[in-house]
Amino acid sequence: MRQIKIAPSILAADFAHLADDIARVENHVDMLHVDVMDGHFVPNLSLGFPVIAALRKATDLPFDCHFMTTNAGDYVGPLAEAGGDLMTIHIEAYPDPRAVAAEAAAAGLRFGLVVSPDTPVTMVEPFVELCDMVLVMSVYPGFGGQAFIAEVLPKIEALAKQVDSQGLRADIEVDGGIDAKTAARARSAGANVFVAGTAIFRAADPVAAIREIRNATE
Ligand code: DX5
Ligand code: ZN
Repeated sequence: MRQIKIAPSILAADFAHLADDIARVENHVDMLHVDVMDGHFVPNLSLGFPVIAALRKATDLPFDCHFMTTNAGDYVGPLAEAGGDLMTIHIEAYPDPRAVAAEAAAAGLRFGLVVSPDTPVTMVEPFVELCDMVLVMSVYPGFGGQAFIAEVLPKIEALAKQVDSQGLRADIEVDGGIDAKTAARARSAGANVFVAGTAIFRAADPVAAIREIRNATE
């Protein structure tokens, strides 16, 4: 059984007080989800290496870095240098991700692939064996606070089946519109890593919100 992991997305945290927001949750979560956007692959900008490097000094949590960029492969070295742990790149941007996967492994990063809501899971299936993580987007990438798209659940089911039947190492992560209710649905489909931005950092009590998500998935 893949271990349940909770990864709060700092996109919903207070960017003027990131270290404080992280300190509040860090003993209750497994890693930190960091959304990097280029204003091109997605119609939004977020943050980059100076922020990641600064946060590296503020917490020991692993950084799960989700690249919503057309040229993520150009940034393997800089991410490793800034203190990233896991790099996920979109299959839509890298239909053949083998070179980037190899480069990430050589740089000491864990590697994963992301599949957007309208992208068929068959696009990632040939490369799951290269992955430490496969991320199924349950919203259109680019913005926090959107509603969970339940139509992606069969993709999680298909990936879980593949990972189990082939004995692969990949975690299965879900990102977008995750709260206790939707996390439970994604868990039933086979996800084991749950990204939540709004539901955690915009909650009156983020630690209670984390506990609710964890309880719903265990
Ligand atoms: C969206 C990002 C998500 C986002 C999730 O492009 O990939 O990680 O922060 O936010 P919520 O949990 O608010 O849907
Ligand atoms: Zn994300």
